[in-house]
Amino acid sequence: MDKIIVEGGNRLTGEVEISGAKNAILPVLAATLLTRGVNKITNAPKVRDVNTMVRLLADLGARVERHDDGEIDLDTTNINNHAAPYELVSTMRASCLVLGPLLARLGRAKVSLPGGCAIGARPIDLHMKGLEAMGATLKLEKGYIDASVDQLRGTQFYFDTVTVTGTANLMMAAVLADGETVLENVAKEPEVVFLADLLNQAGAKIEGQGTDIMTIQGVTSLQALECKILPDRIEAGTYMIAGAMTQGDVWVKNCEPKHVEALTLKLISSGVSVETHETSIRVFCDRRPHGVNIKTRPHPGFPTDFQAQFMALMTLAEGQSIITEDVFENRFMHVAELNRMGANIELEGRSAIVSGVARLSGAPLMATDLRASASLVLAALSAEGESVISRVYHIDRGYEEIEKKLSQLGAKIRRVK
Ligand code: EPZ
Repeated sequence: MDKIIVEGGNRLTGEVEISGAKNAILPVLAATLLTRGVNKITNAPKVRDVNTMVRLLADLGARVERHDDGEIDLDTTNINNHAAPYELVSTMRASCLVLGPLLARLGRAKVSLPGGCAIGARPIDLHMKGLEAMGATLKLEKGYIDASVDQLRGTQFYFDTVTVTGTANLMMAAVLADGETVLENVAKEPEVVFLADLLNQAGAKIEGQGTDIMTIQGVTSLQALECKILPDRIEAGTYMIAGAMTQGDVWVKNCEPKHVEALTLKLISSGVSVETHETSIRVFCDRRPHGVNIKTRPHPGFPTDFQAQFMALMTLAEGQSIITEDVFENRFMHVAELNRMGANIELEGRSAIVSGVARLSGAPLMATDLRASASLVLAALSAEGESVISRVYHIDRGYEEIEKKLSQLGAKIRRVK
C-alpha cells in the first residue's frame, strides 16, 4: 500500500491545472448504456473511480478504448449482461448509477447493494422507490437488488431527501420511459445539470435541470454521447484551501468559479483574498484566517465535499468555528486525525467546534475516505515537521496526481510504495 510523505511548512505558490470532474464522469459513463453506438468522452480524470466504472461497463458488454490524452471511447452497441458484481460495487457506491440505465435498456438489472462507507449508511432507498414508481419490480436477494420491468413508464416522484446520484439515476431511467416523468426536490449540482444537458444533446427531452423540479418526456432512443467533462469543482476548491492554509499565492486554472461560489464567499469572510477570473481563481493570504461557521447543504449551499478540507483550514484560524455536517451522518472521520496533529476540535452531534491553534505538528496519519484524506494532506502541508499518510488509495479515487500537482506548487511531498 502506498504512503504519502509530506514535509510541512512550505508556502504554496504558482499555478495548478484542474482535471475533469469525477462526480460528472461517473454518471456520464453510466448514461452510455442508454445508447447504441460509440460514445466519446474527453478530459476524463485519471482517477481510480473512473477505472472502476469503466471496468464495470466492460463487464456489461461495452467495448472500451482509452487514449493517453484522457479520451475514453465506449462502444455500447452490444450490452448483453445486466449484473453489476459485488466486488466492483463494494469498492464504489456510484456503481448503483447503472441501475436506471440498465432497466431502461434491457428491462433487467442486478446490482449489488452498495455497502455502507466511512461517511455513513448511504442507503439507496429513494433510487429504488423511484424506479418502482416507474413500474419496475425490485427484489432484495443475498445483498443484490434484482430489478425487472417490461417498459418503464413516466411517473411523478418526490425525493424526500435531495440525492445527487438518485436524481441522476431516475433522470436516466425517465429518458427512455413511456410518457412524462416529473421529478421533484431534485439535486441541482452542476454535475446533474451537465448530465441533463448532455442527454438533451443526444436527443432526450429534459427540462428544469438546475431547479427543484425536472420534467422529462420519454423518447425511444438516443444518439451516442460526445462531451468534454467539466472541471472538478471539488478538486479546484481543495487547491484553493491549500493556498489559504499555507499562506501562499495559488492560481487555480481551468475551473468554473461560479461552481465554487459558496466556498469562495466563506474564504473571503475568513479573511482570505480571492480573485475570480473567467476560468481561473487566485487565492492568497499572508496571515491566519479567522474562524467562520459553515453548515453543509445540497447545491447551491456549502458542499459537504468541502467540509473536511475547510475544517483543516479552520484548525489554524484565530477564534472559533462551528462546522455542521447536515448531509451525511458520519462525515467527521478526519477529526480524530486532525486532533492528533494538535488541532482542538470537539464533536457535538452533527457539529464540530473548532478552536484555532497557531500551528499543527506533523504525525503518522490514516486516511479513511476520499475527502477526509484530502484534509489530512492539507493539514500536513501546513504542519511543522513530517507527516506520513497511509491508505492513500482513498485519495487516488478522486484526485489525479495529487503529489505531482502539489509539488509543482512548492510542496515537499512524495509517494512511497
Ligand atoms: C454524491 O453522492 C457524490 N458522489 C458525493 O461525493 C457527495 O458527497 C454527495 O453526492 C452529496 O453531494 C457522486 O456524485 C459519485 P446523496 P451520493 O445521495 O449521490 C441520503 C465524493 O467525495 N440518501 O446526494 O451518494 C444519503 O444517505 C463523494 O466525491 C438517502 O437517504 O449522495 C445522504 O445522507 C462522497 N436515500 C444524503 O441523502 C437515498 O436513496 C445525500 O446523499 C439516497 C441518498
